[in-house]
Amino acid sequence: MQNFDYHTPTRLIFGKGAIEKLPSVMAQFGKKILLTYGGGSIKKLGLYQKVKELLKGYEIVELSGIQPNPKYNPSVLDGVRLCKENNIDVILSVGGGSVLDCSKAIAAGACYDGDPWDLISYKVKAQAALPIVDIITLAATGSEYDCGGVISRTETNDKIGYLDPHLFPHTSFLDPEYTFTVSKKQTAAGIADAMNHTMEQYFVADSTLLNDGFCESMLRSLMVNGRKCLENPEDYTARAEMMLACTYGCNGILALGNSQSGWPCHGIEHALSAYYNITHGEGLAIITPRWMRHILNEKTIDRFVKYGINVFGIDASLPKQEIAEKAIDATYAFFESIGIPMHLREVGIDDSRIDEMAHHIAVNEGLDHAYAPLTEKDIKEILLASL
Ligand code: NZQ
Ligand code: ZN
Repeated sequence: MQNFDYHTPTRLIFGKGAIEKLPSVMAQFGKKILLTYGGGSIKKLGLYQKVKELLKGYEIVELSGIQPNPKYNPSVLDGVRLCKENNIDVILSVGGGSVLDCSKAIAAGACYDGDPWDLISYKVKAQAALPIVDIITLAATGSEYDCGGVISRTETNDKIGYLDPHLFPHTSFLDPEYTFTVSKKQTAAGIADAMNHTMEQYFVADSTLLNDGFCESMLRSLMVNGRKCLENPEDYTARAEMMLACTYGCNGILALGNSQSGWPCHGIEHALSAYYNITHGEGLAIITPRWMRHILNEKTIDRFVKYGINVFGIDASLPKQEIAEKAIDATYAFFESIGIPMHLREVGIDDSRIDEMAHHIAVNEGLDHAYAPLTEKDIKEILLASL
């Protein structure tokens, strides 16, 4: 078991009607709020109106229109400017992971005098950030319980995931009822995203029985409940369990004491959504089984065997190679069965920029240090197999 130093300061307020505690949480900060949201789903939900009602008496400045795969320009830059011009005390993010990630970048940028990209690109370490409170409306990223954000910069095809301990939300509100309206496409993408977060932490050299069990249970729960959410979007119990599972995904709790994995599927997917603006979870579902097949070898086979037996119930008496291959097939079949397009061509990606993307990933993502190290050639092969 590896040493670790772990701290998650975020308060989670979970369940039906959780939002009623919003005024008491916001009362801990000053009166000036930057309310951030996306393209309007929160208005259709009635959540925007509810927030406004609960926060009467506050001065609320709004930043709307934050897009999926949130953009540095204009969203982060506009948010930073609004915070500085209005002396904002706290950011209230209402929406999915994209709105929250953008809000995190704004929170740090607002306390920094230079170009906020310096912080995102790790050129400068943030010294402070505005407090962030969020109401998360889509179960997927786990951003509500981690200190990471993923920001895209269109002109350079960069999509950078960065971590900064100042960016843990102060409080996250999780009411599963707010996820009833999430479309089938986004629900499936959320399942795939959270499953891949778990797999990124499961496929490592060094792990424990404890963490393996936690990850295996996460995967089974996400598959069972995810399917129920798709069949009946208003199944509270299934939405609730899926929401909590997604929340655990990225804050490290699944891998305490494990060796590093390098998060290879995320490294590859971030380039796909940077170049082609695709949905993150769909890109991951396409890449994952191809990555698995690519790294299956004598060194990694035991992980695949364990995964196949404990997650998919594959017969443990079969030869190892057969179990591993069945496990990879089952992974592919599950994603396909929840309606995810399983080829890059289906999401608008052809072979014209594969070389360029493979190079970009190899240079920027450090996957030569992953659990199963990937060179530029490996990355290209995985991308070609995903077409
Ligand atoms: O913009 P609005 O109108 O709000 O619509 C959104 C958006 O179109 C819609 N939506 C959200 N909640 C809804 C809803 N529609 C109906 N009912 C609701 N309750 O869903 C669409 C997608 O939203 P988005 O926020 O983009 O999805 P998600 O939460 O999956 O976030 C994806 C982003 O998070 C990053 C991804 O790379 C991607 O940029 N990630 C962040 C991570 C983190 N911070 O830890 C880790 C992840 O690995 C991931 O990389
Ligand atoms: Zn992800």
